[in-house]
Amino acid sequence: MTSRLPFSRRIVIAFVLMTMVVSGSFSLGIVAVVHFVEDQLITKELRGKLNMVLHEDIRAGREPRLDARTRFFASNSADHPIPERFADFPEGFTEIEEEDEAAYVFVLEANGARYMLLQDQREFEDREEILFSVVVAGFLLCIVLAWGLGVVMARQVMAPVARLAGQVRHPDQLDTRTAPLAPSYANDEIGHLAAAFDKTLGQLRRSIERERLFTSDVSHELRTPLMVISTSCELLLENPLQDGQREQVERIARAATDMNDLVRTFLLLARSGPAETAESATLAEVAREQAELWGPAIRAKGLDFELTDEGADTAGHNPTFLRTVMANLLRNALHYTAQGTVRLVLERDGFRVEDTGVGIPEKEQDRIFLPFVRGSEARGEGLGLGLSLVKRICEHSGWEIAAKSDLGTGTCFRIAFGAARTAEDQPATHRERWT
Ligand SMILES: Nc1ncnc2c1ncn2[C@@H]1O[C@H](COP(=O)(O)OP(=O)(O)OP(=O)(O)O)[C@@H](O)[C@H]1O
Ligand SMILES: [Mg+2]
Repeated sequence: MTSRLPFSRRIVIAFVLMTMVVSGSFSLGIVAVVHFVEDQLITKELRGKLNMVLHEDIRAGREPRLDARTRFFASNSADHPIPERFADFPEGFTEIEEEDEAAYVFVLEANGARYMLLQDQREFEDREEILFSVVVAGFLLCIVLAWGLGVVMARQVMAPVARLAGQVRHPDQLDTRTAPLAPSYANDEIGHLAAAFDKTLGQLRRSIERERLFTSDVSHELRTPLMVISTSCELLLENPLQDGQREQVERIARAATDMNDLVRTFLLLARSGPAETAESATLAEVAREQAELWGPAIRAKGLDFELTDEGADTAGHNPTFLRTVMANLLRNALHYTAQGTVRLVLERDGFRVEDTGVGIPEKEQDRIFLPFVRGSEARGEGLGLGLSLVKRICEHSGWEIAAKSDLGTGTCFRIAFGAARTAEDQPATHRERWT
């Protein structure tokens, strides 16, 4: 249980517990010593007084010479009979601590008689109470001091750890130019921890850099052969070709364009920071182009395809990203719909791809955006990468993606470009559907 508490609180608890044990033992020790000394001293004093009374005063036939606090009783004396309530007291020293009486009793048995001295001790008892109150107050004060000291110590101990955690968490840590952490710490456990972070972060930075370079190298180098394919297709299409051949060449040219788009997407995603491209296209332009590309394939499967414009604005978007996102959503709609309709609906600041397909079970809906995750209704030979690419493009561009699906009824993916827009700004149809 304790291990779940924050480390600083554990330090404070350790301080307080240790103080409780140490000052508690001291306090109990003081109380025990006071009682012990009291027993010893009073017994000695009362024994001396009783001896004096018996051997000097009684023998000389005098009244016992005692102070006002002390009284003498004897079982064989008519003047000083032992009160009934003390009759059973054992031989030796006894302390009486009752509400209305505090006294020491010393009993001696000699020659078949019982002798008793009774000494009032209220004054001593009051002092003893004061002493015990001081001990308790000291004990409590020690605990409060330990708590305060613990808080200060915990803050001091945790300060470098908190600083290190903040530095490790900082997004700049993955930048290769960031200075190592260890030199700004002492050569102690925290310094060693900082050095371990430096080592691990270094490995991480190098592997991220390698991956980034790999992606950009591959993307970059593929562009030349793709351009060769596209140009050759264009040249071929300028010649008279038979119908079948023309169709094949056109398909190759389309595939080359698709690949070119993908290569550019990967290249842009691999670059850190926002993708700056000179090109820009409106939602309606890209939607028309994708409808021309996917419409025939969707209809060929016996489905209806509709492109509906609910008031798309004319803002410019990165055409490569928009094409890739829309194409992936349309491809999925085609794959996962056996009958009914696929709809591409353009909104003022985004779009929806709706289908009447198999739908996505609720428990899978959060996971489908992860790379290499395919649903239980997966079709064909996909890798489960489409939606993860879509998601990364959306994150990169500041777009929002949301999915709504009912098993057996259909699925709707919605992309909203203006992520910061409030629900009130959105058309009523969206609000009903999505909030
Ligand atoms: N429109 C949809 N209707 C029903 N299920 C869908 C739809 N879109 C995606 N899915 C589910 O989400 C999973 C992940 O989709 P994603 O596009 O990432 O991968 P994939 O289509 O299986 O393969 P890939 O896209 O890599 O070829 C799919 O396997 C499928 O189960
Ligand atoms: Mg897919």
